[in-house]
Amino acid sequence: MCGIVGYIGHREAYPVVLKGLKRLEYRGYDSAGVAIYDGKNIKLSKTKGKVVDLENRIKDEISVDGTLAIGHTRWATHGEPNDVNSHPHYSNSGELVIIHNGIIENYEPLKQELINRGYVFHSDTDTEVLVNLIEDVKKNEDVKLGKAVQIALNQVVGAYAIAVFDQKKPDEIVVARLGSPLVIGVGEDEFFIASDASPFIEYTNNAIYLEDEEMAIVRRGKKVKVRKIKDDSLVDPYVQELQLNLEQIEKGGYDHFMLKEIYEQPRAILDTFRGRMLANEGIIRMAGVDDNIEKFVNANRILIVACGTSWHAGLVAEYVFENLTRIPVEVEYASEFRYRNPIITENDVVIAISQSGETADTMAAIKLAKSKGAFVFGVCNVVGSSISRETDAGAYTHAGPEIGVASTKAFTTQITVLTLIALKLAQKKGTISKSEFHQYLSEMDAIPAKVEKTLESANHVKTIADIYKDATNFLYLGRGYNFPVALEGALKLKEISYIHAEGYPAAEMKHGPIALIDEQMPVVVIATRKGHYEKVVSNIQEIKSRKGKIIAVVMQGDKSIKKIADYVIEIPETLELLTPLLTTIPLQLLSYYIAVMRDCNVDQPRNLAKSVTVE
Ligand code: M6R
Repeated sequence: MCGIVGYIGHREAYPVVLKGLKRLEYRGYDSAGVAIYDGKNIKLSKTKGKVVDLENRIKDEISVDGTLAIGHTRWATHGEPNDVNSHPHYSNSGELVIIHNGIIENYEPLKQELINRGYVFHSDTDTEVLVNLIEDVKKNEDVKLGKAVQIALNQVVGAYAIAVFDQKKPDEIVVARLGSPLVIGVGEDEFFIASDASPFIEYTNNAIYLEDEEMAIVRRGKKVKVRKIKDDSLVDPYVQELQLNLEQIEKGGYDHFMLKEIYEQPRAILDTFRGRMLANEGIIRMAGVDDNIEKFVNANRILIVACGTSWHAGLVAEYVFENLTRIPVEVEYASEFRYRNPIITENDVVIAISQSGETADTMAAIKLAKSKGAFVFGVCNVVGSSISRETDAGAYTHAGPEIGVASTKAFTTQITVLTLIALKLAQKKGTISKSEFHQYLSEMDAIPAKVEKTLESANHVKTIADIYKDATNFLYLGRGYNFPVALEGALKLKEISYIHAEGYPAAEMKHGPIALIDEQMPVVVIATRKGHYEKVVSNIQEIKSRKGKIIAVVMQGDKSIKKIADYVIEIPETLELLTPLLTTIPLQLLSYYIAVMRDCNVDQPRNLAKSVTVE
């Protein structure tokens, strides 16, 4: 949560930082602020609201000239979203200024100590405590800023990515990370600091990703110096060349990132299996799996840990893995797993799924599994992310940047990667026949075109959205592979349109949710022909007889459900195991159009943030 940006170099820093904040707004948008060194003093402006509010306000407040600046976009943790709690925060002397993504868990005793020593606090934030702690260390121990940051951080419990500078030494920014991401863009005589690489991609492709417990001094005209916070040892920074380009992180003519990302799915799925799956030759090759094939094949069980949409992808994978490989699978919310003393053995394979690769609970679950000796495999989208580096091996989804807070292409590409892994293992274990294997590969090969075809239903889905946009509740039902899709459809609607929605296995409806059904209740039913079809038809009849409204997602050519449903949305025919890749699409579109019609902020829904780097 929270986005941090910084610049030091030869350009005007404010435009760079402002643009960077706009790109990082997906991480939080409760408030925004910048601090600029104008050659003499630090100028600071911050406000509750979005980056655009900051942009409007700043003109009347400060001059924005200067070649050093830091900026922040906030997802509130400690202290409500208001102007005072916004970052950056000054130290009491006004000489230091800081931005912070994370939580200082022991801020209260630290704050009390500082109050006892005469410090005054203006905000409710943990961050203001940290900057004053740094100031206190700096004065008392008579050390430079870098050393003071290091000593202070050794007293801190929690998570952070910070950038801090000193008005008296305006040729450097000190940065550090533990648990929250921080990357340094390395240009020609200039440096960029950010939560991810998107703020600086048009300036440089060279980046240093700080590891946990590392700090760096980013000094004008000098090489970046990286150290371990704990023991002060020097680290040789690895400068990575990024593949990201500007076009990938812009809207490209779409009204919203979410819509763009929905439409990118044919390409994203193709990119996910391109080079890995050779359908004609009957080959799947994935380095992370190939190199550890014995661990997978001999696994007692596979444990999947994830949160939110990624957890839903994990549930789809449970059905796919068990069916194809006969390896037992358990899917866990990372947040529960990490705290419930789970039984993990060295013969377990743990798969952690995360779009951002930064989710705190998933990260903690990985660390726990590793500590028990399990082999941990990551499925991440963001290249170089913390989870991708923490896991023993992994596979990227190659979906490209996902900026809309609601996950779309991340979900379908996660399912794609996981299905490829399951197919690979099934082939190796001989749990499916050669002909089945080939059939799956050739059908997978056809999926991007079928997603494209499914997207053609957009106008029809829009019409349905218009009819039900004012509903206050929705039910989503599915069975088998499409039960997790029902959960995902409900989550999409909830998070961007604020309509209450629940997903259930269709047969569970009669054990409770059926009581909710009346003529006001739209029920989205995923009813693919090969997935317990007759049973789902009976479930639809049960809803109809209670006057519920049925929106059914069916396979092309379906006749029976057309007769009983109020609306049907067709997907092309495919193998049942692959249907989630298609049935998801109309549900994404339905939530998107309803949210737009309700005038909701689709890409930045209230109270949410794209990556949840706090517990
Ligand atoms: O980055 P991750 O996949 O680890 O994120 C997990 C969830 O926070 C995420 O999937 C969230 O539920 C989505 N924004 C929902 O659309």
